[in-house]
Amino acid sequence: MSATISRTRIVAALAALVISTGVGRAVEQPFDQIQGGRYQAVLGDCAGCHTAPDGKPYAGGVALQTPFGTLVAPNITPDRETGIGAWSEEDFRRALKQGIGHGGERLYPAMPYTAYTKMTDSDVAALWAYFQTVEPVSNEVHSNQLPFPFNIRLLMAGWNWLNFTPGEFKADPKKSDQWNRGAYLVEGAGHCSVCHAPKSALGADKGAMTGTVLQGWFAPNITGNLHDGVGQWSADEIVAYLKTGIGRGSVGSGPMREVIENSTSKMNDADLKAIAAYLKDLPGGEGKGPAPVAKDSPAMQTGAKIYAVNCSACHNGDGSGQINLFPKLAGNSVVQQGDPTSLIHVVLAGSQGAATDAQPTTPAMPSLAWRLTDQQVADVLTYIRNSWGNAAPPVAPDAVGKLRDSSKGGS
Ligand code: HEC
Ligand code: HEC
Ligand code: HEC
Repeated sequence: MSATISRTRIVAALAALVISTGVGRAVEQPFDQIQGGRYQAVLGDCAGCHTAPDGKPYAGGVALQTPFGTLVAPNITPDRETGIGAWSEEDFRRALKQGIGHGGERLYPAMPYTAYTKMTDSDVAALWAYFQTVEPVSNEVHSNQLPFPFNIRLLMAGWNWLNFTPGEFKADPKKSDQWNRGAYLVEGAGHCSVCHAPKSALGADKGAMTGTVLQGWFAPNITGNLHDGVGQWSADEIVAYLKTGIGRGSVGSGPMREVIENSTSKMNDADLKAIAAYLKDLPGGEGKGPAPVAKDSPAMQTGAKIYAVNCSACHNGDGSGQINLFPKLAGNSVVQQGDPTSLIHVVLAGSQGAATDAQPTTPAMPSLAWRLTDQQVADVLTYIRNSWGNAAPPVAPDAVGKLRDSSKGGS
């Protein structure tokens, strides 16, 4: 485990808890279980949603944009009135593994119980033990800010019936222990498919993690697909990406930046290797890209000129970038995704890579929205998607215009 945890702090927190709760609950949890639970919270990135940027840990308040409207992640500190202090361990387990709240209400799947259902009871018990040691914070959160009719929780019963099969992860005896550990982490606590799998009209995961648009970004194909997946990445490159935010010349930005900072950069190396082994083995489509756009087409010709003036100083004329500073665009799988949303976002709004212990200063890409028209952004992107051995569908100016209107204000 990379995050070092101070034994004295935990013991002190426990002592305080014994005093503050006084009666009732047994709080003598073995140290190892609490420490294990703290790591489960890292694996599940609970802080990513339940801790507000300047808020106390787990006191709630991050607004999540869902296809149905806004949901705010509640306070899950052990405060009795505004948190989960009055919950039993069984209530907690039910929320995580079945998506049922304290009063029996259905939780919205923005809380990724559809993935957490795969966690073992003992990992959830550890998580519960850890949450008993978190500082109780009084903070009333009104989760449900969805518009009618999505604000009706009962609808979730229908959604669950259609889309949700509760049940723990089952190891595949034909695969190695490492593969099974990777599958458990990716499908369970890591909830990677919540962002990386295409969605049905009701917002449920649909099939393999072949990529989907979210919040103005495209979460790419992370199956073993050889064209736009991670099939050509070595396991070490995947581990480096998840640990440091930089791997195979690609820099993790947008929503993935937060996942890396809060969660994957704090996972231990054995777990990261297991994730890499599992992803590389996942089937995800054909693995063959389209034929590249012809070099003498108008978009490629103007794109090359725009690139030379606006981009090559950092990314180099041959798209090779600079190790640990400027992403390599040649052979970059993000650049060659079928859907160019992330690329448009990066050029219009600029972007900052993940800050991790291993890579503390983060390189930044400037916003070029003021400098380039929709047509110019489209052309330069078509150019980088189809140069130096890259191949991907051309980018239309309309797609740039749409994002320009919706992404004012940067990332
Ligand atoms: C992607 C965002 C997200 C992540 C990650 C997440 N949660 Fe949640 N969680 C939510 C949202 C949103 C709700 C409110 C759902 C609702 O109101 O129906 C919620 C609800 C809950 C509840 C019910 C609280 C209540 O008052 O009803 C618990 C308990 C909980 N989460 C625990 C966790 C734990 C533990 C983790 C990490 C293993 C975690 N959550 C990770 C978004 C998230
Ligand atoms: C909150 C949404 C979200 C979650 C959860 C998430 N990802 Fe991502 N991921 C993204 C986005 C968006 C990108 C694209 C980042 C970019 O363009 O720089 C990405 C990029 C990646 C890449 C780089 C792919 C490439 O071709 O460059 C890998 C590998 C990856 N994610 C693995 C994971 C794994 C493993 C998990 C689960 C532990 C995970 N992601 C969970 C949104 C997410
Ligand atoms: C001042 C240096 C600089 C200039 C000029 C620049 N970039 Fe970047 N670019 C960066 C840095 C740093 C990043 C990594 C930041 C991130 O991804 O969050 C980046 C990221 C990217 C990415 C995302 C790659 C990935 O792996 O996620 C693309 C695509 C990109 N730039 C294209 C362009 C294009 C096209 C231009 C010209 C129109 C351009 N850049 C100009 C520095 C620059």
